[in-house]
Amino acid sequence: MARIDDRYATRERFTTLRGLRNEARRQLSEVAWNYLWCGTGDETTVHENTAIFDRYKFRTPIFAGISNPDTRTQVLGLDLSFPLLTAPFGGEATFHPHGHLAVGRAAQAVGVQQMVPVAASHTLESVAAASQVAAIYQMTFVGDEDAVVDMMHRAQRAGYRYICVTYSPIRQWRERLMEDRFSPRTDDGPANFGEGLSDPASLVELLNFTQPRWTWEQAARVIARSPLPCIVKGVQSIADAHAALDAGAIGLYISNYGGRTLDREPATLSVLPGIRGAVGKDVPIILDSGIRRGSDIATALALGADAVAAGRIILQGLAAAGEEGVRRTLELLKMEFWSTLGHLGCSRVSDLSPAIFAQTPQE
Ligand SMILES: Cc1cc2nc3c(=O)[nH]c(=O)nc-3n(C[C@H](O)[C@H](O)[C@H](O)COP(=O)(O)O)c2cc1C
Repeated sequence: MARIDDRYATRERFTTLRGLRNEARRQLSEVAWNYLWCGTGDETTVHENTAIFDRYKFRTPIFAGISNPDTRTQVLGLDLSFPLLTAPFGGEATFHPHGHLAVGRAAQAVGVQQMVPVAASHTLESVAAASQVAAIYQMTFVGDEDAVVDMMHRAQRAGYRYICVTYSPIRQWRERLMEDRFSPRTDDGPANFGEGLSDPASLVELLNFTQPRWTWEQAARVIARSPLPCIVKGVQSIADAHAALDAGAIGLYISNYGGRTLDREPATLSVLPGIRGAVGKDVPIILDSGIRRGSDIATALALGADAVAAGRIILQGLAAAGEEGVRRTLELLKMEFWSTLGHLGCSRVSDLSPAIFAQTPQE
């Protein structure tokens, strides 16, 4: 087998994530690039999501005696070759026509799991058939309860193992999209069901976004009827963590949707330790928003996440080179995580703890 650095240097078209970013920028129109990187309002949460990782400084022990760290782990009983899942992102055919079909195949090649959104560009069945790793189906809880439960059964029949529950109170204020009058491309039309985007610049659209929004009581009722275990995405507070578990969720997904819902929400990393402390060590926690590097994964796990999810960086790989670009993105994240573990003196994922930090941000 080739040594890891030989492969790194010679075989691959992309040697770094920066190279993938440059290629994605070349491939995408300005409007599609804005759809990828936009947030809401002044995009301060988008910025803070990544900036916070830089404020944690590592302590690197010498003579730690580590040679080849084991990056494997599990979350929700799902095997991961390193602690990452691909996030549920919709409108992804904007970046490559194969969309989630390519993401699933690449995820399988690297040994991670895929989350598939209701807003995917292909049907949930075709995405499930493309790989063995389409494990989690994301559904927005809105509209008719029976229709939502029917969709859960459809996801179960297709082979999904979990439902990721999301809530979307109202149209998000994404000014880059409003200026561009942008609608993401969906090849199969609205492949599943959902709300789609029509004209985000239209005030009428904003004001008409009036489908009744659900309460926790309704969510609990539907979670109880779900044929699949549910995790709740969008948790950002201890109160919502408890509410989600009380409603029947078996896991938490801490997320501010990459700063794409409401600006001035806190960085997810800043709320993670409090939530982990409040729910105890046994509740599975996935965290996303701001994951850009293998070292970010180590930081999130040290602070209490069981695994992270990545959104834009996976889509960037998809835009750069389709399935190959996603596979390469995942491989580079995995290798950097492996390198980080070794430098931190960790021989396995479970060795990660707050002891890896030399400095943490001042509150
Ligand atoms: C283009 C795009 C589309 C997205 N669509 C969805 C979606 O349909 N459902 C959902 O739950 N989250 C969606 N998200 C949010 C991601 O699942 C994830 O929470 C976010 O991208 C994580 O932040 P990161 O991009 O900094 O990794 C989307 C994100 C992007 C970039």
